Amino acid sequence: MSAPLTGQAVTARAGVNIALVKYWGKAPARGPEDLNLPAVPSLSLTLDGLTTETTVRFAPELPNDRIVLDGRELDPAALGRARPVLDRVRALGDLASPFDVVSTNHVPTGAGLASSASGMAALAAATARLAGLELSPGQLSAVARLGSGSASRSIFGGFAAWEGPEARAVAPPSHWDVRLVVAVVDAGPKDTSSRDAMGRTARTSPYHAGWVSQARGLFDEGLAAVLARDLPALAEVMELSTLRMHAAAMAARPPVLYWRSASLAALEALRALGVQGLVSGWTMDAGPNVKALVHAADAERVRGALAEVAGVQRVLVCAPGPGVSTEVVARDAAW
Ligand code: PMV
Repeated sequence: MSAPLTGQAVTARAGVNIALVKYWGKAPARGPEDLNLPAVPSLSLTLDGLTTETTVRFAPELPNDRIVLDGRELDPAALGRARPVLDRVRALGDLASPFDVVSTNHVPTGAGLASSASGMAALAAATARLAGLELSPGQLSAVARLGSGSASRSIFGGFAAWEGPEARAVAPPSHWDVRLVVAVVDAGPKDTSSRDAMGRTARTSPYHAGWVSQARGLFDEGLAAVLARDLPALAEVMELSTLRMHAAAMAARPPVLYWRSASLAALEALRALGVQGLVSGWTMDAGPNVKALVHAADAERVRGALAEVAGVQRVLVCAPGPGVSTEVVARDAAW
């Protein structure tokens, strides 16, 4: 541990990640450090160009932590989700000062991509460096996880796996020349947050136990497919993981149904390309957008096909991206 950077600020950048094998459901928590422990293992790809940039400084003059996100101060509920990250960094650094945080999502407006993973990963990295903590990527991942489970994976670039307190790197961005093509069906906020939806699934879905019991096998297959750069095998695993996750959620009471007709239409477009021999894996998260994993050489063709689907508002093409990074900046850099 080195000295806290009281006279300076730290800027961190972290990328959005998309799960190829899904996290859905939490393990029982016995204490605050168990927050957001996963009930199932997951596997992800961190994306290039879709990042959160977060600058933080100590603010002993403030009564409380303050986070300004995209120009607006977070309300107490949103701040409350980040608090476990901030409190953990303070505890590790034996510090008491509030943090003053300015954060910007560099995700194209209307992309409909969740930025909580990149946001919590950047927050953990920036505050940990400011506090003088010298955490390993795994330790940092465990801190980011306290804010949002999927944030544990955004610490790492390329492909990451998460199956316990912290995530780990599986393969760097250069491992595989793939693209994630995102068909944006709805860019608005989710009807039901992933946190609420996975809690409700666990409490009320008759399929939750089945979902949990099959997850390890699918994860192992997905991991082997990523390491072997086997897109047909990974595509099969991605589809199963998505459909099984959504099936469990749809069977909750009240049901959690994220799909729209345009989601299905996008899948039909991918299926039509498949008939022509183009291999793609697809996935959906806690929303109606469809994300297709394809060989880089096929990305433009897939983008064109998805852009023509009725109800698809826009299409983004993302390459594998780097893990979180930090730099020390002037104390007034973001203020
Ligand atoms: O960590 P959260 O609360 O953002 O939940 C993420 C849930 C999914 O995006 C649906 C799946 C995943 O593994 O990222």
